[in-house]
Amino acid sequence: MSANLFSLDGKTAVITGASGFLGRTFVRALLTNGARIVALGRSARLQREAKEWEREFGDDKVAYFQIDMYDIEAFSRVLDEIAHSEKTIDVLINNAHELGPGTGFNVPEGSLDNATMDTWMRNLTGGVYWAALTTQKIGMRMKQQHSGSVINISTMYALVAPRPQLYAGTEFINPPGYSASKAALLSFTRYVASFWGPHGIRANALLPGPFSNTEDDSGANTVDQNSPFLERLRACTCLGRIGKPHELVGALLFLASDASSYMTGQALVVDGGWTAV
Ligand SMILES: NC(=O)c1ccc[n+]([C@@H]2O[C@H](COP(=O)([O-])OP(=O)(O)OC[C@H]3O[C@@H](n4cnc5c(N)ncnc54)[C@H](OP(=O)(O)O)[C@@H]3O)[C@@H](O)[C@H]2O)c1
Repeated sequence: MSANLFSLDGKTAVITGASGFLGRTFVRALLTNGARIVALGRSARLQREAKEWEREFGDDKVAYFQIDMYDIEAFSRVLDEIAHSEKTIDVLINNAHELGPGTGFNVPEGSLDNATMDTWMRNLTGGVYWAALTTQKIGMRMKQQHSGSVINISTMYALVAPRPQLYAGTEFINPPGYSASKAALLSFTRYVASFWGPHGIRANALLPGPFSNTEDDSGANTVDQNSPFLERLRACTCLGRIGKPHELVGALLFLASDASSYMTGQALVVDGGWTAV
């Protein structure tokens, strides 16, 4: 029995959406536990974060690619480059998703009544096709190695529908294409587990509950902490509060490391008890 069951020493992890709200906490957790990371992101924030990671953990521990993943050709080229240049790839974390007006969040064309094909296609592309492509390209390396852990970041809304009462009277809209694409991602996870288990590859989904980003970089609140929406979110959990990104780290490291070596095709839900009652 290893004392360092969760260690990622000597392992390489590829992660999309690396500089986002949850992604940057995931990256720090991977680096802190010994992994080298290959980080993908779209905005300039990736470069700023990557410089910090390099300073703290060493240049050799970080590689990064700034890429708009909707540009499928460019995205494919980056994935080929990563697959050919890294000595091993042990962990793949599919974390990126566009959570804005383009996918129908908080805009009229995101509602069930008005959803457009464009919002649906963006959700399905980001929710499931990006993971399908990374799995093909990076998974090839894992197959050659006969080992690897794929972690797909889904949501509790792959299991339960958003409740309309949460959004009534607020400006918030959670589009149907989001839940559907993340449920498809969970289904895809099981498919990969089924077909590539014999190749030594595990695939699991991590399903976060409410982890709303309500602070700016200085820690100041960007959303009124007493807003009815946040109050309603808290009330839907058993723990009576919204999660903090670091509260996903235990589950992520578990899935990434040998601690979960006999676990595949599963959904690990971290939601403060939302889906339990
Ligand atoms: N926060 C929650 O409460 C919650 C709950 C359940 C599930 N999740 C899931 O957790 C994951 C991370 O969410 P988050 O809360 O951290 O959101 P976020 O801060 O918006 O992060 C999303 C990431 O995806 C990247 N991304 C979006 N569009 C992209 C594109 N076209 N090309 C490349 N990268 C792109 C973003 O990069 P840029 O910022 O550089 O554009 C960002 O780094 C998502 O899959 C989300 O569905 C979140």
